[in-house]
Amino acid sequence: MKIFLDSANLAEIREAVSWGAIDGVTTNPSLVAKEGCRFFPLLKEICETVNGPVSMETISRDAAGMVDEGRAFAKLHPHIVVKCPLTQEGLAATRRLSKEQIRVNVTLCFSPSQALLAAKAGAAYVSPFVGRLDDISADGMGLIRDIKTIYANYAFSTQILVASVRHPLHVVEAARLGADAATMPFAVLQSLVKHPLTEAGLERFLKDWEKLPPEAKAWKSSSAVSDTAAEARGRQRINR
Ligand code: E4P
Repeated sequence: MKIFLDSANLAEIREAVSWGAIDGVTTNPSLVAKEGCRFFPLLKEICETVNGPVSMETISRDAAGMVDEGRAFAKLHPHIVVKCPLTQEGLAATRRLSKEQIRVNVTLCFSPSQALLAAKAGAAYVSPFVGRLDDISADGMGLIRDIKTIYANYAFSTQILVASVRHPLHVVEAARLGADAATMPFAVLQSLVKHPLTEAGLERFLKDWEKLPPEAKAWKSSSAVSDTAAEARGRQRINR
């Protein structure tokens, strides 16, 4: 499963790229607005930072406006994927942009019927928002399961991009269900790495290492004496 970072913050994106952890980035108008800077240069910089798709959402409500914006975004960088909302106008824009070979991520998907229409319109990705469904006591992951079945039934090539991810279990469940990608905030990406046993284990290893005498910890094997001493200690242990 591909992992995307749901962020427009360059520091977070650079950090995640440095771990080799992300395959792409998704943004939305709220995330871009949080950065408070001119969005075109920001978008270009994000595209140059990450070696994969970067979703940017249109802000028009009508199809013609979305198509214009989508074309302008697509000219900016080959990594751009245009996000269109799952409305009638959004579907019409998706159809037109897809016919021009511009990749579209149909966003704000909350039902299997919407996902079916996104695929029929030619979307490269559909973004079902699992967290927002869970927030209203609906079954976010149930939606992923349904879309998976429907797309498999008709061999649609639209990729399922699980969005509105709130915690690591959303990511694990998305992967279990065979979603194509999941996009998550930086905090969720960090929590995928962390495990208390890893931290405790590392603490223990490093404390034990500190017990070695300084000459034994030297990086350069300058002291043949300490090597010999270590060998002698090793032999003693074996003979005990
Ligand atoms: C997806 O592309 C959206 O940007 C995002 O996942 C929305 O998440 P939220 O529901 O946490 O705002």
